[in-house]
Amino acid sequence: MIEVKDKQFRSYLSRAEISVQVDRVAKELMESYSDKKPFFLGVLNGSFMFMSDLMKEFSASCEIGFVKAASYEGMETTGVVKFHEAGKLPIAGRDVIIVEDIIDTGNTLDALTNFLNRYEPKSVSVCTLLFKKEAYLHSYPIDYVCFDVENKFLLGYGLDYDGYGRNIPEVFIFNESND
Ligand code: IMP
Ligand code: MG
Repeated sequence: MIEVKDKQFRSYLSRAEISVQVDRVAKELMESYSDKKPFFLGVLNGSFMFMSDLMKEFSASCEIGFVKAASYEGMETTGVVKFHEAGKLPIAGRDVIIVEDIIDTGNTLDALTNFLNRYEPKSVSVCTLLFKKEAYLHSYPIDYVCFDVENKFLLGYGLDYDGYGRNIPEVFIFNESND
């Protein structure tokens, strides 16, 4: 059990479990993209740790970039996706793979795919560490998923609670019984 700010969280996914699934997904990406010079587009801040581990296992030629999007304050979704363009994205005619820490409602992803289409990429697929299937409100396909997870608040491995906990190297889950 750990405490972050005012809440308690319990262990959910270990470093070893994460590593196995990240390697599996990297292998799938190698099979589909090793000859395509893809552009991996991470969504900040949450994706930084996943992106780092995933890219170490993607050994083919590729580019890596980031955009900043945020729709969460505290533990509730605000419904408003704030979006910050991170300069010019050289993705016209490219195969783009969005890299997310977690897909929850999918509102962030929806805004991002609309935003990216203006750059006329060749394709846009989605890779996420965690997928809250039950909470997903959209139909855009989620192509690469490390873990399907329950619809509870998660923390660590890039995911934060009000800015804290991103540096924790494994995934923790909110412990409701202690609330
Ligand atoms: P969505 O727009 O509802 O799909 O949420 C996307 C973003 O919300 C993710 O990239 C995360 O930054 C954040 N988020 C969603 N669920 C959680 C969670 O359980 N813990 C921490 N952040 C979350
Ligand atoms: Mg995020």
